[in-house]
Amino acid sequence: MIEVDVPLGTRTYRVIVGPGARESLAELVPGGARRAAVVTQAGIGVPVDPGLEHREFHIPDGEATKTLATVESLCRQWSQWGLTRGDVVVAVGGGLTTDLAGFAAASYHRGVAVIHVATTLLAQVDAAIGGKTGVNLPEGKNLVGAFWQPHAVICDTDTLATLPPRELRNGRGEMAKYAFLGVSDLPSLDIDEAVAACVRCKADVVASDEREAGRRAVLNYGHTLAHALETATDYDIRHGEAVAIGIVYAAEVACRLGRIDRHRVDAHRRVVAGYDLPSTLPDGVSDAALLELFGRDKKAVGGLTFVLDGPDGVEVVEVADRDVLVESLGALR
Ligand code: GLY
Repeated sequence: MIEVDVPLGTRTYRVIVGPGARESLAELVPGGARRAAVVTQAGIGVPVDPGLEHREFHIPDGEATKTLATVESLCRQWSQWGLTRGDVVVAVGGGLTTDLAGFAAASYHRGVAVIHVATTLLAQVDAAIGGKTGVNLPEGKNLVGAFWQPHAVICDTDTLATLPPRELRNGRGEMAKYAFLGVSDLPSLDIDEAVAACVRCKADVVASDEREAGRRAVLNYGHTLAHALETATDYDIRHGEAVAIGIVYAAEVACRLGRIDRHRVDAHRRVVAGYDLPSTLPDGVSDAALLELFGRDKKAVGGLTFVLDGPDGVEVVEVADRDVLVESLGALR
């Protein structure tokens, strides 16, 4: 088993990575908890044993369930069951489940401990680590949320064996971004080591900038276009697929702004193709719709903001030149 700490002072927590890691759950439950509310989806089918009284709370499948209404429903069910602030929520599933249950845990009784048991590649390498929780609004993805660090995270790599191919591709989109954040050897690692390498990278970034005052935004590499594509396609495109296209888009924008050269753009295209991920825009999504959605991105506080590669590595850049953004979209059609 591989153990990685996310070092946040008194809120430091452990991420356990490996086959069968979920058997550690009972040891990780906070002392004093009497009950565990296990939040999962019917299709996940990953049994867990928190080692104390527990009850399963199911949320529906699909991104459409990631709403404030589902958070209300969960909190009401917890209240009717008698869950207290001293108890624990266990989120078992992918990023949708960990985001949603994490946000409900952050809000319920003003905060109850949550342990994430991440069952998808995407959740293991990204979503379950770092305390970002939240839900969507009709206006866009993850527009309401909170930072709520988990008490512990379990990345049981046995659960990856049963994932459908498209779900694995979804996770590879988030893996691809780490190639540009200093994790260069991912394709040569076995799956446990690869997940742990992503977790280590993310832990380091989160420890240095927990609430995204600056550096943490690099973890959103490729995400400005990705979130816009997810909203514009009504979540037909999977997050990781959208991130892959977004990474290539960010490279095209950076190149037009003179931050990187064409060879570096080609390197982006090679990484994305190496993970068997798309680098062209889906049909039927207009430039105008995407530009409008860029403006609703959470990073956009002044103008349109992107995470771009450059001579000093990946960083947040405000892009004022709309022609560059439109031409770069054209390079993906
Ligand atoms: N997924 C980006 C972050 O956790 O900051």
